[in-house]
Amino acid sequence: MKALGIDIGGSAIKGAPVDLKTGRFAAERCRIEIDRETTPATMAGLAGEIARHFRWRGPIGVGFPGAVQGARIRTSANLHPRFVGCDGAKLFGRATGCRVTMMNDAEAAACAEMRYGAGRDFMGKALLLTLGTGVGTCLAYRGVVVPLELGHFPWKRGKDAEKHVSMAARDKEDLSWAEWGRRLRDFFGELERLLWPELIIVGGGVSAKHEKFFQYLHTRARLVPARLRNQAGIVGAALRAAESR
Ligand code: BGC
Repeated sequence: MKALGIDIGGSAIKGAPVDLKTGRFAAERCRIEIDRETTPATMAGLAGEIARHFRWRGPIGVGFPGAVQGARIRTSANLHPRFVGCDGAKLFGRATGCRVTMMNDAEAAACAEMRYGAGRDFMGKALLLTLGTGVGTCLAYRGVVVPLELGHFPWKRGKDAEKHVSMAARDKEDLSWAEWGRRLRDFFGELERLLWPELIIVGGGVSAKHEKFFQYLHTRARLVPARLRNQAGIVGAALRAAESR
């Protein structure tokens, strides 16, 4: 069984067919750069291009970096504001000619990590974070994955936490690993105080460099890098698409 996973991020739209038995890509990933100016219509066109690239006819899962309710996109903090209110299943379904399941990007990553990766067989309370342009958050407990929006937790001077602790903030302010690590430590500390996870899985591209900043975090919970790294968004989107009928 295969499904096509599409992961929309702050700087690119990426897709690959996924072998759901193994959780691995069944073909090389296709990646197209985007930015905040990319409109829903253009993004849909790019999703169509990805589906055509793989000559895809089956189910497609799309992970979007914003709150999603049902198929409807509710927020778009780091992408075009015109996404807000869009029915993603219709938008991307029309463009690809396939059945589309919409979800939050961190939710997709969490589904993949809990099934194939760092959270496999773990039944306690796990918190998954993705550190990229924004900060994605999701809880998993006894096989149920719940997307959250804790990247928008009010932080210093009421600003969204993700403006301080995302990978984008690290790049923008040119922070050292230690400086960024200390910011993450405070943020993770606050999340632990409120959520009491037993396992914290850190994803996003930067999870490949976890040994540079994990030492600063001092979490109570067991802290592990995502095993699927930044493939998790694509893999989880495909998995959800295959499982939602
Ligand atoms: C969005 C979340 C998303 C996260 C990571 C945040 O700005 O609000 O929905 O999961 O970025 O992309």
